[in-house]
Amino acid sequence: MENKNRGSFSGSLGFILTAVGSAVGLGNLWGFPYKMGANGGFPFLIIYLVFVIFCGVVVMGLEMAIGRKTGKSPVLAMGELGKQYKFVGWLSVLCPIIISGFYSVLIGYSVRYAWGFLMEIFGSDSFGGMSGGDFFGAYTAEPMQVMLFTIITLAACGLIVAGGIAGGIEKFNKVGIPGLFVLLIVIIVYNFTLPGASQGLTYMFTSKGMEMAGTEFDFFNACRVAAGQMLFSCSLGMGIMITYGSYMKPEESISRNAWIIPAADTLAAIMAGLAIFPAVFAQGGTPNGGVGLLFITMHDTFTSMGNIGNVIGFLFYVLVIFAGVSSLISLMEVASAHFIDSNEAKGKPVSRKNAVLVMTVIIFVLSIPVCLDMLGGSAITTQIPLVSKIGCLVDTYDFFTEGIMMPLAAILMCLIVGWKKGHSWYEEEMEKCGNKIIGKSFFRVSIKYITPAMMTFVLISLALSYLGI
Ligand code: PFF
Repeated sequence: MENKNRGSFSGSLGFILTAVGSAVGLGNLWGFPYKMGANGGFPFLIIYLVFVIFCGVVVMGLEMAIGRKTGKSPVLAMGELGKQYKFVGWLSVLCPIIISGFYSVLIGYSVRYAWGFLMEIFGSDSFGGMSGGDFFGAYTAEPMQVMLFTIITLAACGLIVAGGIAGGIEKFNKVGIPGLFVLLIVIIVYNFTLPGASQGLTYMFTSKGMEMAGTEFDFFNACRVAAGQMLFSCSLGMGIMITYGSYMKPEESISRNAWIIPAADTLAAIMAGLAIFPAVFAQGGTPNGGVGLLFITMHDTFTSMGNIGNVIGFLFYVLVIFAGVSSLISLMEVASAHFIDSNEAKGKPVSRKNAVLVMTVIIFVLSIPVCLDMLGGSAITTQIPLVSKIGCLVDTYDFFTEGIMMPLAAILMCLIVGWKKGHSWYEEEMEKCGNKIIGKSFFRVSIKYITPAMMTFVLISLALSYLGI
């Protein structure tokens, strides 16, 4: 029986913008540009592209085919492939819930910073005249304030997801994603008017970047970093594309979308670098990545630009919010879709609104320790041996998801479909309504051999590197 609480995308553009919205997120802004510079520049880009093509495109196509063919969210979808495979679906559902636990906190930070720069435009001293590092330290040391901004973020995203696929998620992305690219272009154009901006290009695209970041080229390390970044950045191995695929119309070309979405994500990652590093170098900053780049280095960069820095800073954090929200709603959708589908299967239908409410509360509960952890600055969570070994709670959540669950789910999906179900299982779905598979032999060889082999390398090397081995 058709599940009334499910929905569908209104058309191609809505689907593509929504999937790009999930892929383009904080990972593109704080991860890719820094990692590219610090790991070889142009050669890193080539390595990254190899992973995008042989793993990103393949797993994306496969997830969409699984989703659309079964019409279900990950646990039930994998259960249709065989009861014994349900656990792969569970990996895919737990992952987004865990990631949302820290992702929502970080978007909350961005809301605070956007608000801060907006206030500064109107002459109020919202950052107390502090340096980036001092303000960040002071802000994160007030968990109640951090929690307030996390609640605002989760409530806004919850409302979007509760609005449904076409009425909420697609609507947001149809405005948010073009808006995000426009903001990127505005900031990039402004950046290139700054004296010294070309150093940003030198950092990202040439081998001098390693000198600037104080690193050295190591091929295997570059592969490991590129692979982990690709998986997180393309939103793979966590049921997002299974869930979004389940709402996709049969006439849509899965293989075309599987090429377009990672390409758009990579373009956005390069543009993000151009929106960040030219400004950082022009203002005399030093390159770094992660949370420190977004909230300390960029804050200092905008402050040192004078009045115009408040406007550019405000636009930049609005950009971060658009990127973050479009990703967070995809994470919340996976969790909510699972709740809706599993209750429907038990004969106890639950409304989308109630499902989203339950998931929002669960994610908020998971985010509380992250708020209290102060990114490792508090003594509470760092007393847990595993957390202190890995770094802080955000890194710990990231270790279990990006380091273990995502690559594992991606490998298992390829092996189950490639070896147990056979190529016709997914090809039938990809070829529906007369669609041609773009790269049919490529998908065949990759799903069975190349992608699982490359992903196994990622799984082992990421797990070891997180543990500092
Ligand atoms: N792809 C998003 C990013 O690059 O920030 C993050 C993300 C979204 C990760 C959705 C995982 C996910 F399921």
